[in-house]
Amino acid sequence: MNKKIAVILGDGIGPEVTQQSIKVLDAVAKQYGHEFHYTECLMGADAIDKTGNPLPDETIEVCLNSDAILFGAIGHPKYDNDPNAKVRPEQGLLKLRKSLQLFANIRPVITYPSLQHLSPLKAKQLEEVDFIIFRELTGGIYFGKKETNEEKTYAFDECSYSREEIERVSHLAFQYAQKRRKKLTLVDKANVLETSRLWRKVVQELAPQYSDVTVDFLFVDNAAMQIIVNPKQFDVVLTENMFGDIISDEASVISGSLGLLPSASVGNGSALFEPIHGSYPQAAGKDIANPLGSILSAAMLLDHFGLNKEAQVVREGVEWTINNKFVTKDIDPVNFYFTSTIGDLIADFVSNKIPGDINQANIELRKSTII
Ligand code: IPM
Ligand code: MN
Repeated sequence: MNKKIAVILGDGIGPEVTQQSIKVLDAVAKQYGHEFHYTECLMGADAIDKTGNPLPDETIEVCLNSDAILFGAIGHPKYDNDPNAKVRPEQGLLKLRKSLQLFANIRPVITYPSLQHLSPLKAKQLEEVDFIIFRELTGGIYFGKKETNEEKTYAFDECSYSREEIERVSHLAFQYAQKRRKKLTLVDKANVLETSRLWRKVVQELAPQYSDVTVDFLFVDNAAMQIIVNPKQFDVVLTENMFGDIISDEASVISGSLGLLPSASVGNGSALFEPIHGSYPQAAGKDIANPLGSILSAAMLLDHFGLNKEAQVVREGVEWTINNKFVTKDIDPVNFYFTSTIGDLIADFVSNKIPGDINQANIELRKSTII
């Protein structure tokens, strides 16, 4: 298979985690006889520094001409605390999602038994947790009209949804549910918001087309609580843009580290793959960030290409590192390995060099010395 992949390294730890995914994808290509051609492009604070624009036209062009996009992270503290900043890194990502019509963001949440001790939840609540959040990504309050008056005493953000916007992401979520445990939960705030009432109506109307799927409805405040109290009840969670942003960060910590969760953003044509974590500027350039969210996003990219066997091997590689305690600092602050070492190990796993050829002494050299 011959594929073109646009690579947006982005800000903070984006470059170093994405480099590990490329390492792993290169190992996949070599091992299974594929060719992946990468084109790097700019977005975010990095793009503002270099071009003044968080999303140069050239980036949109490259992404439109690629089979998939691999993206690192976005954001820089110098913009976070400046409410007057006119240009922000995040505008790049939002514009890219809109330009490519990436209307569904898919965020799988699973747990790893060997990381249970890191989860804020008790072991019993973690058993059998396996759900997917479907977040609508190109509508709602993120993209509504927004304004602040001149005196800066009043501001508003409008939240709107059309039936069509709700339908397309809902169809996808229903189809995923059919392939899984056949349960779909719509998360909304239909007791207060008109947009939520429209979501409920549309989902209720679509449900008969997927009669094998059980549908239930939860208000977002209740859902936020249920994710902590009883996360195993969920299979496919469908929700609008901002609720999805919030509950997916909440759900991510269940697994033990925000650094573990991947995501795919899909639309009619292009698809973008990125870890759900942010740019973690304090760790940038230190080779300590967890690359697993990015590497698992690369596995989702392989699935998107129909390379399911290859995706599975990458996931097994990730599990192998976790189970053998080859983990980054977020998981083990004392005996940790570097970002690049984890990438090397998973690439070696894909290349079948583990465990036979593993050179423990070399790996130990790349381990932290702070013991
Ligand atoms: C995410 C991020 C983005 C979002 C930001 C960076 C604009 O938090 O992908 O979840 O809010 O969608
Ligand atoms: Mn977010």
